[in-house]
Amino acid sequence: MPKKRGFILFGSPHQNGATARLVQAFLKAFPEETEWTMVEAYHQKIAPCLGCGLCEHKEGCVNSDFDQIDHLLRTCDYLVVASPVYNLSFPAPLKAIFDRTQRYFSARFVRGERPPIAKHKKAAMLLTCGADSRDGADIIRKQLKMIFTVLNTELAGEVLWKNTDRDKNMEPLMGVLAETAEKLAIAWDL
Ligand SMILES: Cc1cc2nc3c(=O)[nH]c(=O)nc-3n(C[C@H](O)[C@H](O)[C@H](O)COP(=O)(O)O)c2cc1C
Repeated sequence: MPKKRGFILFGSPHQNGATARLVQAFLKAFPEETEWTMVEAYHQKIAPCLGCGLCEHKEGCVNSDFDQIDHLLRTCDYLVVASPVYNLSFPAPLKAIFDRTQRYFSARFVRGERPPIAKHKKAAMLLTCGADSRDGADIIRKQLKMIFTVLNTELAGEVLWKNTDRDKNMEPLMGVLAETAEKLAIAWDL
């Protein structure tokens, strides 16, 4: 049987920061043998959506820099969004990537494609934030749930490592990380 494919959208500028540590622990806990591809938003430097409206008339985008992400979104079995909270939202490079999913919104609601992405998948949201607060996670969850409606993607679980400014100990999260990894993997077989 071919290996399943996981796609990680990574929103932190730090290779060894809190978000990277959370992703590493999540992958260790993941029960399936999976081929993971990580797109680092800060390396990829995807251009912002121009709102030009081309995708309202035909498939695709004026800018080809999103092609690899488009392919991964259409073919992956699992999606993981891993990010720090910046001003109660995504860091700008990751926000640019999510804005570029406007092409699927246009496909669905202007060009009438149902669904704009054929393959259904489940996703996990892994977040870190400096404050002892869930506000950023609540906002990001709302954003992701809306975007996922046109990505044929369902949010299966989430892990928030909050208070990273003061609390560097990730141990208490290991249980929920393992549960979330399990939920994502089990979801594939449903
Ligand atoms: C520009 C910027 C904005 C931030 N905004 C928030 C915020 O709104 N809420 C919060 O709790 N933490 C905020 N933080 C803190 C980060 O979310 C936190 O330090 C995070 O764990 C960093 O993850 P990393 O080590 O992967 O970069 C912000 C940090 C930066 C640099």
